Amino acid sequence: MKIKFLILILLSLNFIACNNSETESTETIQEVVEKVNIDYIKEGKTIAENTFKVLSSNLQQAMVDGGIENALGYCNIKAMPLTDSLSKHYNVTIKRVSNKARNPLNQASENEQKILNNYLESIENRKPIISKNENANTSFYAPITTKGLCLNCHGIVGETLLPENHVKIQSLYPNDLATGYKIDELRGMWSIEFKN
Ligand code: HEC
Repeated sequence: MKIKFLILILLSLNFIACNNSETESTETIQEVVEKVNIDYIKEGKTIAENTFKVLSSNLQQAMVDGGIENALGYCNIKAMPLTDSLSKHYNVTIKRVSNKARNPLNQASENEQKILNNYLESIENRKPIISKNENANTSFYAPITTKGLCLNCHGIVGETLLPENHVKIQSLYPNDLATGYKIDELRGMWSIEFKN
C-alpha cells in the first residue's frame, strides 16, 4: 500500500515536472522560430537589395550606352543569368515573379500568387515575409513596386512607354503582360528560396 502511494506521488511529481518543462520548451521553440525568422528576413532583404543593385546598375549602364532599346535587349539577355549567378553566390534560389510577367519564366506559381494577392489587396500588406513554400523550404518574399524609371519599359503605351519601345518589347516577348503600370504600383515580388 505504502509503495503504491509513493509511486503515485512520484508519478504525479513527474507529471508536474514534465508539464512544466513542456510549456517551457514550447516557449523556447517559439522564441527560436521567431529569431530564425528575423534572421531569414534580414538575409532575404540583403540578397534582394544586392540583386536589385546589380540589376539596376547594369540596366542604367545599358541605358547610358544605347538608350531604352539597347537596355531592353540587355535585360532580355542578362536579367536571368545575373540572378542565377547571384543565386549560386548566396546558395539560394532568387526569382523576381509577377502576376503580369514579361518573361513567362517569371510567372508566379500558385503559392506565390496567393502572396501577391495579399500584397495587391492593400498597401499596408506590402511587407517582406517568411513562409514555407511548396517544396517545404523556407522562402523570403518582398514586394517590388514601380518607380519613374521603370515606366520607360513597363508604363502605359503612348504615355510613359514609347510605341517604338513597345514594338521592341513585343518582338522580344510576344506574350508580354508587363505594361500599363503607373508609379508605386505592385510590379511583382522577390521570391528567394533558402536551401533548408
Ligand atoms: C530597359 C527596360 C526596362 C526597365 C527600365 C525596367 N525593366 Fe523590368 N523588365 C524588363 C525586361 C526586358 C524584363 C524581362 C527580363 C527577363 O527576360 O528575365 C523585365 C522584367 C522585370 C521583372 C520580372 C517579372 C517579369 O515581368 O518578367 C520585374 C519584377 C521587373 N522587371 C521590375 C522592374 C522595376 C521595378 C523596374 C524599375 C526599377 C524595371 N523593371 C525597369 C525591362 C525593363
